[in-house]
Amino acid sequence: MENKILILNMKMYMELKDIKEYISKVNVTNDNIILCPTAIYLPYFLKKYKNLAIQNIYAEDLGAYTGAISALQVSELGIKYAIVGHSECRNHFNETDELINKKIKSALDNGLKVILCIGDNLEQYKSLKTKEVLKQQLHKDLYNIESQNIIIAYEPIFSIGTGNVLDNEMISNIISFIKQELCDMNLDLPVVYGGSVNSDNIKELIKIKNVDGFMVGKSSSMIDEVLKMIKVVSS
Ligand code: PGA
Repeated sequence: MENKILILNMKMYMELKDIKEYISKVNVTNDNIILCPTAIYLPYFLKKYKNLAIQNIYAEDLGAYTGAISALQVSELGIKYAIVGHSECRNHFNETDELINKKIKSALDNGLKVILCIGDNLEQYKSLKTKEVLKQQLHKDLYNIESQNIIIAYEPIFSIGTGNVLDNEMISNIISFIKQELCDMNLDLPVVYGGSVNSDNIKELIKIKNVDGFMVGKSSSMIDEVLKMIKVVSS
């Protein structure tokens, strides 16, 4: 069995002392593990790890954009991936699909691989609009993009940080839908699942045949959890 991808999205959960401990205790030997610390900590991680992602980028390369970090700057440092379109960025920073499309193009133009997050909210899920919402996000976010250097992360918004994980059959069904939609767009991309994944439920989630891996938030900032999850996806 091919190793599943494990994306460790540390969000803004850790401070400097935690980072130092994390780096001393977490060893990563496989290419399938992608670490995504808060941007200012990336230089510390670069000393030890190869597969790093920035949690967000700005859509322009250089210029008068106070507080922003560009794909160009990130790729010059040796970072390989950029997360784009996380629901927290869509919500807190009002990111639209049009902006997300620009960010993806900027990342790819600068040689980064993209982790594109898509997902439905509870209301959409309950009113059976999941597939419609995901289809729209895929078509708008990937408009005029042909690259294969993209990982899709399907993250139902109501599963993020809540402990409410969809059952395996439902996840598998939605992933099949996403893959079929991508195929219709002439894209063949890995699709991972995210939302309250931890070292316990990952043992069940890994049984889903068509899932290519997982994106983990809260548990990715907990060293014991990380070590256990790395074992599960690497065996
Ligand atoms: P969570 O976050 O694992 O804390 O639910 C997942 C994510 O937002 O990527």
